Amino acid sequence: MLTDRVRFKPLQDKITDPATAARHIQNGTNLFISGFTAGYPKLIPQELVKRAGNGEQFKINLFAGASTGDMVDGILARADLVAWRRPYMSDKFMREKINRGEIAFKDDHLSQLSAKVRAGEWGSCDVAVVEAAAITEKGHLIPTMSVGNTPTYVREAKKIIIEISGISPLMEGIHDIFIPENPPYRMPIPLYRTADRIGKPFIDMDPGRVVAILFSAEKDHCPIFMPPNSISSRIAEHILDFVQHEIKKDRIPSSLPWQAGVGDVANAVLSGFIEDKNFDSIDIYSEVLQDSVLDLIDLGKVRAASGSALTLSEKARERFFNEIYRYREKIVLRPVEISNSPEVIRRLGVIAINTAIEIDIYGQVNSTHVMGTQLMNGIGGSGDFIRNGALTMMVTPSTAKGGLVSAIVPMVSHVDHSEHSVDVVVTEYGLVDTRPLTPRQVAEQVIHNCAHPDFRDQLWDYYQRAVKLRGGHEPHILEKAFFMHQLFMEEGDMRVK
Ligand code: COA
Repeated sequence: MLTDRVRFKPLQDKITDPATAARHIQNGTNLFISGFTAGYPKLIPQELVKRAGNGEQFKINLFAGASTGDMVDGILARADLVAWRRPYMSDKFMREKINRGEIAFKDDHLSQLSAKVRAGEWGSCDVAVVEAAAITEKGHLIPTMSVGNTPTYVREAKKIIIEISGISPLMEGIHDIFIPENPPYRMPIPLYRTADRIGKPFIDMDPGRVVAILFSAEKDHCPIFMPPNSISSRIAEHILDFVQHEIKKDRIPSSLPWQAGVGDVANAVLSGFIEDKNFDSIDIYSEVLQDSVLDLIDLGKVRAASGSALTLSEKARERFFNEIYRYREKIVLRPVEISNSPEVIRRLGVIAINTAIEIDIYGQVNSTHVMGTQLMNGIGGSGDFIRNGALTMMVTPSTAKGGLVSAIVPMVSHVDHSEHSVDVVVTEYGLVDTRPLTPRQVAEQVIHNCAHPDFRDQLWDYYQRAVKLRGGHEPHILEKAFFMHQLFMEEGDMRVK
């Protein structure tokens, strides 16, 4: 184990226990961790919680690649150990503290973070704690199930703590690590096809900054996405029919790569390819690769799948670990600044599909804040893909909260993506291709094609009044738009009670 996993001999005397390693983390430490839905460190967070349980008073500033799991965000939030957290997170307890103002949080486009850290915008990179499958003979790091911002964190950190995952396979050959130069010296990123490998299969590391190495047998706990239901399957059908139609009309080539965001709907879209005979050889250029990607590879339907993380259920992970030699030929894991790079997404012409909390009749999108105030997760990579894809779709079930709240609203209560970035709006009732339409035509079609029938009359009444009373290029009665939003939510609340 030791010789397999820590092959660089001078580092073998850094192997220690979590308590000793965690002493490098003190009150006010800026802690930069690996992890992007998977591949996060597990022992150090537990050790910090233990220290807090023993009465030690301290807080850290926590920076990850994106969401982690209860073993990081959950336990650290519950122990009240986090002062700042960036970027995307999806933990219930942390979300509550952020919304109460007890944890400082700022949302960022994921593609931009590594460059900001290298530029020093996030302050001193005190300690990096990273999960790895191995340290090579030359002292390079092989990550596990995600890359995220880890290459930059390892490069910038003053001290590095490594958690070697004994349960991960060696993972060599899956990753492709490329760090672009900082402006003004940045050159084009030389990635021209989804499958291209442009960097090294490991993370460069200065062994002199490694202060501790731990062995871990802890597993990732990834969010479990529901199998497609009637709503997500309908949404997937609309999307696949529409893209097929666009290909037939010769408006897009058949070989464009696909990106599907996080959540059940995104998973259903990829699962839709399983049955669809029209899509037999697809490229996936996405951020997070879920179970459905393995299913599609097994069916021989994937030419290449590129992402920054593999978020797999327990069963799929076992399959992946057992047959990594086979999946390695199709899957590439990259730093998030490459998987989500606006430059690369535009060059490849990605078809981007992301999920919204609510979409308004003109196509503005709220992905992050319920009622414009309560943070749900964060913007993640949705902006990277929606702003830069060749064909961009925002999807949502037409209602939320068991059908009580309309997800199609007169005016979104918070804007993450504007109408200028969103080509197509999709719900289970249908879709609207906004590209050839004026804002008024978009509103009419979104109400008619996408809104749930229970809410269409109210939305239509609003739109008609707005046209009559205010007119303009995008008619709105601002006080009424907010009132209706409030009404939708309050009616929903009352019906829940
Ligand atoms: N009004 C009120 N609440 C709403 C709502 C609405 N219109 N739409 C969704 N919600 C709530 C749900 O009720 C649920 O809350 P609960 O957990 O308390 O029940 C929560 O939001 C999540 O919704 P869910 O239906 O489970 O959707 P999902 O798992 O598909 O996630 C997003 C939807 C928008 C939260 C998720 O896609 C996201 O975080 N997006 C932003 C980041 C992103 O797109 N990343 C991809 C980049 S590659």
